[in-house]
Amino acid sequence: MIATKTVKDYIRTIVDFPHEGIMFRDVTTLFADPRGFRMAIDQMLHPYAGQRIDKVVGLEARGFIIGGAIAHQLGTGFVPIRKKGKLPGTTISQEYTLEYGEAIVEIHDDAITPGETVLVIDDLLATGGTAEAGIKLLERLGATIVGCAFIIDLPELGGREKLTQMGMEVHALCEFEGL
Ligand code: PRP
Ligand code: MG
Repeated sequence: MIATKTVKDYIRTIVDFPHEGIMFRDVTTLFADPRGFRMAIDQMLHPYAGQRIDKVVGLEARGFIIGGAIAHQLGTGFVPIRKKGKLPGTTISQEYTLEYGEAIVEIHDDAITPGETVLVIDDLLATGGTAEAGIKLLERLGATIVGCAFIIDLPELGGREKLTQMGMEVHALCEFEGL
């Protein structure tokens, strides 16, 4: 019998990247495979089929790849949340904490019309700091967030708990143990 591959099976682990002790979960091998990529997109949008969604919001950088495909499938617009200094128009900014130091993400201040419903997409949920910053930006623009969807959740890092405590509905296609 041929076992059916799951989304998790297409994800490659690179040991000691970007620093010693980190197991980097590499989704490029998932994206490069036609079946794997389609399976991931279909599974991510499945919980939202039939719900009103005006925009899909992707978090830089891999959230753009997945979010663009999901927006196309759902027939919605796509809005990027980018690292500081990348967006050309007028933006609002939000600071967040990384493993070492702080970072800033931005969104165009006219990217969302107050009251629009949005779905937030990224590849990986770790501490939840990136997604939290994105959610804060969207809330400041008056968006209603229908959910946050990820390919990977690292449950030990507590991101799901953080987002759930903020009242978010969180979906992830698979989990990995450890960092
Ligand atoms: C990674 C990943 C998520 C974020 C998750 O992105 O793609 O966006 O970290 O971590 P958190 O839940 O602890 O915030 P990274 O900041 O490495 O940047 P990139 O996507 O631009 O490579
Ligand atoms: Mg990222």
